[in-house]
Amino acid sequence: MEIFQDKLYALADSIRAREKGDVVYLRGIIEFSNYCRRNCLYCGLRRDNTKLGRYRMSPEEIIKRAKEIAALGIKTVVLQSGEDPYYKLKDLVGMVSRIKELGVYVTLSIGELSTHAYRELKKAGADRYLLRHETANRKLYEVLHPDGSFENRVRCLYALKDLGYEVGAGNMVGLPGQTDDMLWEDLLFMEKLQPEMVGIGPFIPHPDTPLAKEKGGTLEQTLTMIALTRIILPKANIPATTALGTIHPEGRELGLKVGANVVMPNMTPQPYRPLYQLYPGKICVNEDPDACLPCLKRRIESIGRTII
Ligand code: 5AD
Ligand code: SF4
Ligand code: FES
Repeated sequence: MEIFQDKLYALADSIRAREKGDVVYLRGIIEFSNYCRRNCLYCGLRRDNTKLGRYRMSPEEIIKRAKEIAALGIKTVVLQSGEDPYYKLKDLVGMVSRIKELGVYVTLSIGELSTHAYRELKKAGADRYLLRHETANRKLYEVLHPDGSFENRVRCLYALKDLGYEVGAGNMVGLPGQTDDMLWEDLLFMEKLQPEMVGIGPFIPHPDTPLAKEKGGTLEQTLTMIALTRIILPKANIPATTALGTIHPEGRELGLKVGANVVMPNMTPQPYRPLYQLYPGKICVNEDPDACLPCLKRRIESIGRTII
């Protein structure tokens, strides 16, 4: 079957080249708070993980970092956090509008909110929203998310679409109990939703979660899902994720060769970087906060692509 695998990868790569060209888009991400009110079974930021030191960046600190990112020539600032009710809607609106003044695109990745909140953030200038569906299998979704429902996840995704956001969905690969049929459900779900962006990464078991003893997703499974996603959604923006770079030293380059066209340099300042520990072994956490940009540039150029 290896021959099919190679052909699948080559087909996905040719669709990426045709639809997206050889340019790799950069999205600078600031992980501004690792507090989370939720208890997702797989995630190191879950509220029951008392071993994790928690941090919050102040709005001023976040805006300052966004300025530095813009000054480096990165055109998209991604603000990501756990679901942290500490930041009120007016604080978030204020941050988005100030960052928009820098002339960058603003992507939010702050979880499930009311349609009202999504609307106010859009009015403040937010352009895009990342909210992975995590798994499209309702049963598996509900096992993994003791305080969430698949229905509300889907409600959020469609609300974001209706409001005119570019929407990012996506799933983890290799979750405990996830079958190939369920991965197929992910693809069908995304074909229906038609997200503008799709983040796909391997599940990586975190020692301080209930899934500590489970197996993680593999490189091959994840690359297969990236390739199939590119075929099903030819125009989507698909990142080569940090999780993929964590399970294999060239994971992100491999992702870019089988359909991905985006990378997301971690721009979170120190001392916070090691604390945004969704999963163990996360790359880049001990680096200087500006180190990822030249590193990714070199990696991208090494595979014959260019950055923008
Ligand atoms: N392994 C891999 N990815 C994870 N995420 C959270 N926990 C893990 C883990 N243990 C992913 C989820 C979430 C994104 C921000 O990080 O898909 O949407
Ligand atoms: Fe919180 Fe997101 Fe982690 Fe769930 S996946 S615990 S919502 S940070
Ligand atoms: Fe972060 Fe290489 S991408 S150090």
